[in-house]
Amino acid sequence: MYAQMVKSTGSAVKSLHEMTPQERAFQERVDAGERIEPKEWMPEGYRKTLIRQIGQHAHSEIVGQLPEGNWITRAPTLERKAILLAKVQDEAGHGLYLYCAAETLGVSRDELYEALHEGRMKYSSIFNYPTLTWADIGAVGWLVDGAAIMNQVPLQRCSYGPYARAMVRICKEESFHQRQGFDIMMKMANGTPEQKEMAQDALNRFWGPSLMMFGPSDEHSVHSAQSMAWKIKMNGNDELRQKFVDLTAPQAEFLGLTIPDPDLKWNEERGHYDYSEPDWDEFFEVLRGNGPCNKERLGARIEAWDDGAWVREGLMANAAKRRPMAAE
Ligand code: 3HC
Repeated sequence: MYAQMVKSTGSAVKSLHEMTPQERAFQERVDAGERIEPKEWMPEGYRKTLIRQIGQHAHSEIVGQLPEGNWITRAPTLERKAILLAKVQDEAGHGLYLYCAAETLGVSRDELYEALHEGRMKYSSIFNYPTLTWADIGAVGWLVDGAAIMNQVPLQRCSYGPYARAMVRICKEESFHQRQGFDIMMKMANGTPEQKEMAQDALNRFWGPSLMMFGPSDEHSVHSAQSMAWKIKMNGNDELRQKFVDLTAPQAEFLGLTIPDPDLKWNEERGHYDYSEPDWDEFFEVLRGNGPCNKERLGARIEAWDDGAWVREGLMANAAKRRPMAAE
C-alpha cells in the first residue's frame, strides 16, 4: 500500500514517418515550439504522460509540506517561524496550481488523490527522508528547492500550456525558498562549532537524496526520450543533475562546508565538476516504499483525506441543495 511502484509504460519514440498524419502534425507543432492547449487534439500517450508527470509533481508539493511542517512549531525565532509558515503555504499553492493543470487533461483531483493513496502514483523520493534538526530545514531549502528549481525553470518552456504557465509562478516562489534555505545554512555555518556541525550533518544526509531527485541516470530513464521529444521534459536527468552539482559545489565552499563526496572535483577539460553517482539501490528501495519515512508520509496524507471527509460531504450537500434554487 505504501509502495510508490507504478509500472513504467515508456516505449520507443516513433519517427515522423511512422506516425499517423494527425500525430505528425502534432509533433511538428511541438517541434516548432507551439503551445498545446487543453481542448486541442493530442496523442493519448502525450496526455497520459502529462497526467503522470504533473500529478506526481503536484503530489510532491503536497507531501513536501510534511518534513518542513514538522518544524513550524520549533523554528528558533518568530521571524524564522513566519518565513517557514509562508514557505509551507506556498507549497500547498503549488500543489493546487498543478492539480488544476492536471484537471485540464480530463482527470479529477479526487482520482489523483486516490491513485496516490493506493500507491498507484508516486511523489518525489526526497520527501521520504526525515528532518531531524533545524539545520535540515536549511538544507531542504538550499538543496531540495535548489534541485527543484534546476528541474522546473526549463519546464516554463514545456509544450503544454497550463503546465508551463503554472511553472512561472512556482519557479518565482521556489527561488525565494532556495534563498531562505541558504540563509539558514549561512547562519548555522557561521555560528557556534555545534551549529556548524549540525549544518555539515544536514548536508551529509541530504546531498545524495537531492541528487536522486533528478531521476535515474539517462540510460535507466524510461520516459526521458519520449518526454523530451514531446517537450514535456526539456532536459535529460543527468544533464540537470550535473548543472545542479556545478552550481552547488561553489556554494558549499562559500559556506565552508564539505560535500560528502571524495570524488567531487572541478574537471578543467569537461568544464564541469566530476562527482560520484548517488546510491541508486537506495533510490529504488525508496521508490519501492522502503525509505525511512514512506509509511509516515503516505499515512499522514491518507489521514488528512479521511479527516476532511465531513467537509467534502457538507460542501456536496450544500451544493445539491442550491442546485434547484439556481435552476428557478
Ligand atoms: N522520485 C520518485 N520517483 C521518481 C523520481 C524521484 N526523484 N525520479 C524518477 N522517478 C520515477 C519516474 O516517475 C518513473 O516512474 P514511473 O514510470 O513509474 O512513473 C521512473 O522513476 C523512471 O524515471 P524517468 O526518468 O523515466 O521518469 P521521468 O521522465 O518522469 O523523470 C522527473 C522524472 C525528472 C522527476 C520528471 O518527472 C520531472 O521532471 N517532473 C517534474 C518535476 C517534479 O515532479 N519534481 C518533483 C519535486 S517537486 C518539489 O520538490 C517540491 C518543491 O517544493 C521542493
